[in-house]
Amino acid sequence: MPRPTTGSAPPLRVAFAAFVAFVLAATPMIVAGCNEAEATNDTPETFPMEPHYLWPTVMPDEGQIAAGAFTGEALPQPIGFPHYTHVTTLNMDCQYCHFVARKSIHAGVPPTETCMGCHKYVKKDAPEITKLAALWESGEPTAWNKVHDLPDHVVFNHGRHVKAGVNCTECHGQMGLQGQPQPAPGTAEGEAPVMVVNAVNIRETTLQMGWCLQCHATHPSIDTNYGEKSDQRRAELKDCWTCHK
Ligand code: HEC
Ligand code: HEC
Ligand code: HEC
Ligand code: HEC
Ligand code: HEC
Repeated sequence: MPRPTTGSAPPLRVAFAAFVAFVLAATPMIVAGCNEAEATNDTPETFPMEPHYLWPTVMPDEGQIAAGAFTGEALPQPIGFPHYTHVTTLNMDCQYCHFVARKSIHAGVPPTETCMGCHKYVKKDAPEITKLAALWESGEPTAWNKVHDLPDHVVFNHGRHVKAGVNCTECHGQMGLQGQPQPAPGTAEGEAPVMVVNAVNIRETTLQMGWCLQCHATHPSIDTNYGEKSDQRRAELKDCWTCHK
């Protein structure tokens, strides 16, 4: 998916050309510097925990490559869906709506049908629910903007993580606190405020490679689930091939 960048096209091209020139110039040096003596096993095995780039960075300030929204950026959504109201107030389970998360690569967003199970009766006259009902009647699926989106060269499987015992919150933060209704502006003092829902979903984590590796190196479920074999499992989880196919 094309994403907004801060750089305009010409500087990017110049930067890229400079980078290609650098690589051409540096290759003999890099190759010459790679001798057997240096390639011993005592070299500590470290992985870049910082953002890393194949070509000069286009977005130096954001420091982030994963597609979808930037961390903290709010994408417009067709319906202001308040997680807070459903998860925190109504105590609904995440998987009531994201019901494929346990068995699939995707967590998925619920079909409008799932919402209408309640909203045929609940808050029928609220503006957002009127929009929802119109969508449902039209038979068109709700076109939610994807907030968490990895680049296509990365393999990620929800079901595998959920079954291993990794919580949604470990990767998505406090989603259940997002979209809390706020008092409408302009309410006179002493008057009961009208609560309005200004819900948008905000990505709380970076989804960077270092973030994945950090958890794979430390998550306690791997010891619980693999016992003696946990070191081997952690080694597999560092393998480039595990996440890049
Ligand atoms: C646990 C999963 C995981 C493993 C293991 C992993 N990667 Fe990644 N990698 C990612 C994710 C997620 C991204 C995309 C986010 C980012 O750019 O940080 C990524 C991005 C990259 C990119 C693109 C960076 C860019 O700027 O677009 C390269 C190159 C890369 N990985 C190489 C490697 C190599 C080489 C290894 C093995 C040493 C490796 N990866 C192991 C998850 C992984
Ligand atoms: C009542 C149904 C419902 C419940 C319960 C629910 N969600 Fe959602 N969730 C949605 C809908 C609808 C969207 C798409 C709207 C949006 O992104 O603002 C969504 C979007 C998301 C997204 C972002 C998807 C993306 O685009 O990347 C995440 C992450 C998420 N939910 C996690 C959770 C977690 C974690 C819980 C439990 C704490 C939870 N949800 C509970 C309905 C629900
Ligand atoms: C289990 C029943 C249930 C389901 C399923 C459900 N909701 Fe709700 N929803 C509620 C209740 C109850 C309220 C709070 C009503 C109130 O404020 O008194 C609410 C509130 C809302 C509001 C805020 C309305 C307002 O302006 O106050 C929106 C928007 C909303 N839901 C959208 C959705 C969407 C979209 C889905 C499907 C992804 C969904 N709901 C699924 C029960 C449900
Ligand atoms: C190990 C980290 C991790 C865990 C645990 C996790 N997610 Fe995700 N989630 C992600 C990543 C990474 C993406 C982006 C996936 C992509 O673009 O391929 C994502 C995407 C999503 C999306 C967007 C739609 C989709 O399927 O891509 C929703 C909704 C979501 N997660 C909900 C949940 C819920 C609900 C849970 C708990 C049942 C959960 N996630 C557990 C990391 C996680
Ligand atoms: C909060 C901890 C956590 C984060 C963050 C996390 N993972 Fe994992 N991941 C795990 C655990 C635990 C396992 C081991 C599951 C098992 O073996 O049962 C795992 C396993 C995997 C596997 C192996 C699945 C298989 O089928 O063998 C892949 C691939 C993977 N993760 C990719 C990713 C990518 C890509 C990211 C980052 C976008 C990521 N993970 C972020 C905890 C995490």
